[in-house]
Amino acid sequence: KQMQLAKGRGQEIAANQKAFQTFLAQAETAEQTQDLLRIPVVVHVMHAPGEAYGVASNITDEQILSQIEVLNEDFRKQLGSRGFNNLAVGADTEIEFCLATRDPAGNVSNGIVRVPYSGSNNFQLAQDINMKDLSRWPTTRYLNIWIVKSIQSGILGYAYLPETLNGDPNRARIDGLVIGARYFGSRDKQPVNQNFYLDNTFGYGRTATHEIGHYLNLAHTWGDGGCEVDDGVGDTPLCSGQYFGCPPNPARPNQCGNDRMVENYMDYSDDVCFNIFTQGQKTRMRSAMQFYAFRNSLTSPANLIATGCTDSSNNLFADTLF
Ligand code: ARG
Ligand code: ZN
Ligand code: CA
Repeated sequence: KQMQLAKGRGQEIAANQKAFQTFLAQAETAEQTQDLLRIPVVVHVMHAPGEAYGVASNITDEQILSQIEVLNEDFRKQLGSRGFNNLAVGADTEIEFCLATRDPAGNVSNGIVRVPYSGSNNFQLAQDINMKDLSRWPTTRYLNIWIVKSIQSGILGYAYLPETLNGDPNRARIDGLVIGARYFGSRDKQPVNQNFYLDNTFGYGRTATHEIGHYLNLAHTWGDGGCEVDDGVGDTPLCSGQYFGCPPNPARPNQCGNDRMVENYMDYSDDVCFNIFTQGQKTRMRSAMQFYAFRNSLTSPANLIATGCTDSSNNLFADTLF
């Protein structure tokens, strides 16, 4: 969803894209650092007023933890409940996510903030900045994820690309993800005594995976256009327009001379069909983490200490049961 741009922002973004492209080209030829990049996360549950803990949009801690597990499975190519893609281009991005255990003041926290919010149901995009002003941790130190009851126009979630945030005067106020409560967490991970507030089709946690792809400067695999538009990633096949559902219904399309990679997290397929970031997407995301100062600051050793994200036991990988 493209918002109205301020005068001059178009050229500025084009310049950002060009500068990033140059950096990326160097990264693609250079030896990639093999460091694990761990991103501290805070979740703001902007629930509908009157909904107590565990009721509808005031989703439980367990549902939130189930989402962090899915992120780590997807980005680290872990087996998890849905498996991963065995294609040679499938990547362990070596990026992982930690629900913060320290708040910005250094106090112990579970990384979850709960705020009653009157605009939570059918949330309007025009309220983006106002809503975020109600609850935000520094966006250069935490990946902020705001949960609302639902979003206008059937949108499951959204995020901003760093290349459009760079130079935006509101960058620090708007950076992060907004996701509908029914799309945050995984039905695969419900405890026996709890029903998660999750959608049947989009209730497996892949909206957050997709939006974090954008947060790390990935475009949609179809480049938001036809065969003539590339997504800036060499090993994602060219394709055309959005794809909804899962093969065999609709069938896997042959487009632009390729079998479409409908399993890519940056397509629009159903949650249960997603299972791959490619090596090229990995390089692009890790390059964005290096290139943009407001991303690089997230993973500094000092910030990992300050946010309580040095302990890998906090990464919440799912237990492997066999
Ligand atoms: N921004 C997209 C939307 O709101 C996200 C789609 C993610 N797809 C998914 N299967 N979870 O539609
Ligand atoms: Zn998208
Ligand atoms: Ca491509």
